[in-house]
Amino acid sequence: MQKNSMTFIDNRTGNSYEYPILEATRGSSVVDIKSFYVDTGLFTYDPGFTSTASCESKITFIDGAKGELRYRGLAIEELAQDHTYLEVCFLLLNGRLPQQVELEDFDLELRHRAFVDEGLKGLILSFPSQAHPMAILSSSVSALASFYYEHLNLEDERSYQEMASRIIAKIPTLAAFAYRHSLGIPFIYPDIERSFTENFLYMMRAYPGGKMKITKEGEQTIRQVEIDALDTIFTLHADHEQNASTTTVRGVASTGAHPYVAISAGISALWGRAHGGANESVIAQLEMIGHVKNVPAYIAKAKDKDDPFRLMGFGHRVYKNFDPRAKVLKKLQDQLKEELGLDSELMEIAQEIEKIALSDPYFVSRNLYPNIDFYSGVILYALKIPRNMFTAIFVIGRSVGWISQWIEFKKDTTSKIARPRQLYTGA
Ligand code: CMC
Repeated sequence: MQKNSMTFIDNRTGNSYEYPILEATRGSSVVDIKSFYVDTGLFTYDPGFTSTASCESKITFIDGAKGELRYRGLAIEELAQDHTYLEVCFLLLNGRLPQQVELEDFDLELRHRAFVDEGLKGLILSFPSQAHPMAILSSSVSALASFYYEHLNLEDERSYQEMASRIIAKIPTLAAFAYRHSLGIPFIYPDIERSFTENFLYMMRAYPGGKMKITKEGEQTIRQVEIDALDTIFTLHADHEQNASTTTVRGVASTGAHPYVAISAGISALWGRAHGGANESVIAQLEMIGHVKNVPAYIAKAKDKDDPFRLMGFGHRVYKNFDPRAKVLKKLQDQLKEELGLDSELMEIAQEIEKIALSDPYFVSRNLYPNIDFYSGVILYALKIPRNMFTAIFVIGRSVGWISQWIEFKKDTTSKIARPRQLYTGA
């Protein structure tokens, strides 16, 4: 018997089968059960994939017990503090941080690629004005496939890096257009002179003709502190290994569909409130609670098994100690309190929820801690980003993660179409 293996004994027949254990460089190793069905005639059963590794990856590592998150080996705390989102994009795509000249080239390329085909404006305008920006974003990213129907040839490194840059550069523009359409106001084109993150705020906020509102004191409406905070939020969302939306992207990639369609599917998967949609739900929930005195009643609802109510922004499938992204954001939130004037009533409610939940045996025994969405919602609210755009902000940050994972999947010569089996209990 091999040392690095696991033996499965079928007690019905007494037959035993040996499966190799593949060693991870960090974190849990895996039992390779690829031949399990052929050997035993049985399927494994794991709803929600709680114990299943769906792929091999070199991009992002999470240690949920320690509360650790690394992109290409680098700790998220260090990346958030010392590097910009564009450096992080380069890192995820290339496996290393850029040299200064590479960063300048990448930045310039994204500025040029931020423009979208005029035809896409027609698509966005055809949505009802009350359409959620996530619906418009998912559809318009899918529509990109009809404007750029190449890049399926992975022999050509330059061509899919170009496709990755297009996706990262155009999604903020489409997101801002979706938002402006929901207000019924004219679109603002990207400004080639503005950096990635500043440009997004500009396209959301500028007046027709590209004019920015200046206060009586001569102040610009986009402040550096806001750009820095949003840039950090993008970095913290950039990738998160095999989460629900990334698994969706890889699943669509496995059928050979076009990359833009795969990213569009990822956007739809992210929208749900158990995933990226939670940031919007956090603020909706804080507003619903309305006052600190109501917090205990809502905590009781969250603990009541007969009540479907859940505390939004709490709990995580992988993190069972704390969410390191939430830690960075909590620090950022404290720093911004003064500078951005975080809404004191909502903050008070959020802090009361945090205080009670962190000491309540229900939450403590289930390892339910505030996650990234608990703090990002409050910060985005302070940045005066409308609530229906919160999940679109998550999309902007995550687009690089999805496309990096798409590329990795496509380059993996062992990858197969995603096709799980089932435990049939019907007639
Ligand atoms: N409020 C109250 N109870 C909860 C919560 C919550 N937010 N989250 C989990 N629980 C309870 C749940 O009822 C269950 O209790 P019991 O063991 O008595 O049945 C236990 O904790 C385990 O929950 P689970 O649903 O089995 O855990 P999961 O790993 O399948 O779900 C989750 C993870 C994130 C979907 C869930 O915690 C949740 O719905 N949280 C609220 C939504 C949210 O904040 N989502 C954002 C996640 S972070 C952003 C991202 O990366 O997507």
